[in-house]
Amino acid sequence: MLRVPRPDGLLLRALAGKPNDRPPVWLMRQAGRYLPEYREVRAKAGSFLDLCRNPALAAEVTLQPLRRFELDAAIVFSDILIVPYALGQKVEFVEGEGPKLDPVSDGKAMARLNASRADEAFAPVYETVARVVAELPEAVPLIGFCGAPWTVATYMVEGSGSKDQAASRLMAYREPEIFQALIDLLVAVSADYLLGQIKAGASVLQIFDSWAGSLPEDQFERWCIAPTKQIVARVKKEAPEIPVIGFPRGADLLAERYARETGIDAIGCGTSMPVGWMQRLQMHIPVQGNLDPLLLLAGGPALDTRTREIIAILGSGPFVFNLGHGIHPDTPIDHVARLVTQVKSGAP
Ligand code: CP3
Repeated sequence: MLRVPRPDGLLLRALAGKPNDRPPVWLMRQAGRYLPEYREVRAKAGSFLDLCRNPALAAEVTLQPLRRFELDAAIVFSDILIVPYALGQKVEFVEGEGPKLDPVSDGKAMARLNASRADEAFAPVYETVARVVAELPEAVPLIGFCGAPWTVATYMVEGSGSKDQAASRLMAYREPEIFQALIDLLVAVSADYLLGQIKAGASVLQIFDSWAGSLPEDQFERWCIAPTKQIVARVKKEAPEIPVIGFPRGADLLAERYARETGIDAIGCGTSMPVGWMQRLQMHIPVQGNLDPLLLLAGGPALDTRTREIIAILGSGPFVFNLGHGIHPDTPIDHVARLVTQVKSGAP
């Protein structure tokens, strides 16, 4: 079952800092609601979590975008909130509203979290990984992922998505010991989870820190850089050959420190990061990103022009073409097809 992707594949080459004739391309949330075949499987699966826990269906939706578009990587279909679920927190995805969790708002709720059955909760994801890897062509790697402790903690504390992560930031200021205990637990479980995905066949990892941009410098250092560094160190100790992409969305001026200090192999950049700044980062580390998902939705000549510009500025260094955030569910499929073709051909 084990299959090692070719080290000369475009994504692995870019992540190793090697030059390519054209940038590799994959898209965050490339499996999802913009695809009718995804919506069909999703309706069959029951809830979103049921889909994540069903290896046959999760493998199917992982592969769907690769059947339509010539993408250079697959990303395992799951969600960052599998980790709180694995810790025994109640997690639900409410149609049209997003995730709802029983908030961890104090030490008592913290004490109820329990990692003893995490492996059982992760097992279906590992099986999804193994099934996808068995189907993928040799040149196409599978990306495993987790949420970064800070971002996952914000959902656990807020009980949902939030505009400014205020409850989590307040807990971090008012009760730093409790918040640190939560982060430490997430570091341990997330590192296990990433290593489990590697054992099952993932050959690249991404750590999603979607809310990294809401923290001031000292807090960013403590809650984004330090925990990510610990996770990367554990992964590297056991699997030094697996490249890790860090995605501290919105970190912007702090991204350079994050890149230098966490030990990641490549840095994903959100849409707010100036491409000229990515070019600067690129002198030290491979970069990924950062086309605006709304421009992909809008399409037209502006999309073509911007795609060309990004490739012109970043394409001669180690670079992975991607969006600055996940695909919007209303994105027309032909816009995605056109984008992928354009990146692959260097035109129009
Ligand atoms: O990229 C991929 O194709 C792999 C799958 C993937 C999903 N979520 C599937 C998903 C990945 C990598 C994620 C990461 C994720 N999940 C993040 C980090 C990246 C980011 O977007 O900031 C976050 C913050 C989450 C948490 C989450 N999951 C939210 C806030 C939501 C609701 C918003 C929404 O888009 O509905 C989800 C649900 C979710 N995760 C969906 C998918 C395809 C949609 C649910 C559905 O189909 O009903």
